[in-house]
Amino acid sequence: MAKIISLLNFKGGVGKTTSTHSIGSALSTFEKKVLLVDMDPQGTLTFFSMEDSPNLSVWEVLAEKKDIENCVEKLEEFDLLPSTIELTLAELELNSSYNKEFRLKKAIDKIKDKYDFILIDCPPSLSIFTLNALATSTDLIIPCECELASMEGLNLLLKVLKSPIKHLNPELNLLGILPTKLDGRKKISGEVHEMLLNTHSKVLPAIRINSKLSEIGIEKISIFKADKSSNGAKDYLNVAKVILNDSK
Ligand SMILES: Nc1ncnc2c1ncn2[C@@H]1O[C@H](COP(=O)(O)OP(=O)(O)O)[C@@H](O)[C@H]1O
Ligand SMILES: [Mg+2]
Repeated sequence: MAKIISLLNFKGGVGKTTSTHSIGSALSTFEKKVLLVDMDPQGTLTFFSMEDSPNLSVWEVLAEKKDIENCVEKLEEFDLLPSTIELTLAELELNSSYNKEFRLKKAIDKIKDKYDFILIDCPPSLSIFTLNALATSTDLIIPCECELASMEGLNLLLKVLKSPIKHLNPELNLLGILPTKLDGRKKISGEVHEMLLNTHSKVLPAIRINSKLSEIGIEKISIFKADKSSNGAKDYLNVAKVILNDSK
C-alpha cells in the first residue's frame, strides 16, 4: 500500500518543496514508483519539475471537473499532479463546496495502488489545500530550518495541527521532523540541530546547506541527475533510506 507523505510547515522557505522533489527523486533511484502532488498555488514544485506549464492541474481534481488520471503528468523520475496559480482563485469556490476537505483523498484513493510513495508539497498555511493534504496522508514530515526562530514555530505548528488532525485523520503518523539548511559555518545552526534532537523523538537525518540544491529547477532535473556526489544528494538519500526502512 502506498505511503502518502505530506511535507508541511506554515513557514515559507524552509525547504518543503526542495525536500518533496529530492526525496521523491531519491525514492525513485531505489526503483520505487513515486507520485508528487503540488498543493501549493505558487506552483514551485511544478516549476522545478516541468519545462512547460501543465494543461490540467490539481484544481480540476479538487473541483471534480476531471478524472485524476487525466491530470497526472508522467515525468522521467516520477509522476506529478501539478499546480497552477488558478488554484488561488479556486480556494473561495472550494470553501463553499460539499466535502471540501476530502476531495484529494477521494481522487488519490483511485490511483494510490499504482504507487509506492505519494509525496504532497503543502503551501505555508492551514488552507483548504493543506487540510486536503492532511486528510489524504498516512504520514507527515515537517521540514524545519536549522535556525533559532524555527524552534518556536515548530512547537506552535505541532500544537495548531492537533485539532485538524484529530478531526480529519486521527491515524496520521508523524514520520519525522526534517532538519534543513544545516550550516556548518554557523554555531547557532548546529545548536538548533542539537536542540531538535534533544526535544523531539522523531528527527530524520539532517540536510546540509548545499548550493546545488538551490539550483534545482534551472535544468528541470533532480539533484541526483544534476550531481549525485553533492552533499544535497547524499543527505536526501539518507532520508530516503530511513523512509524505506520505516515502510518495511
Ligand atoms: N539545503 C539547502 N541548501 C541550500 N539552499 C536550499 C536548501 N534547501 C532549500 N534551499 C533553497 O531555499 C529556498 C526555499 O526552499 P523551498 O524548498 O522552496 O522552501 P519552501 O517550499 O518551504 O518554501 C529555495 O531558494 C531553495 O532553493
Ligand atoms: Mg514551497
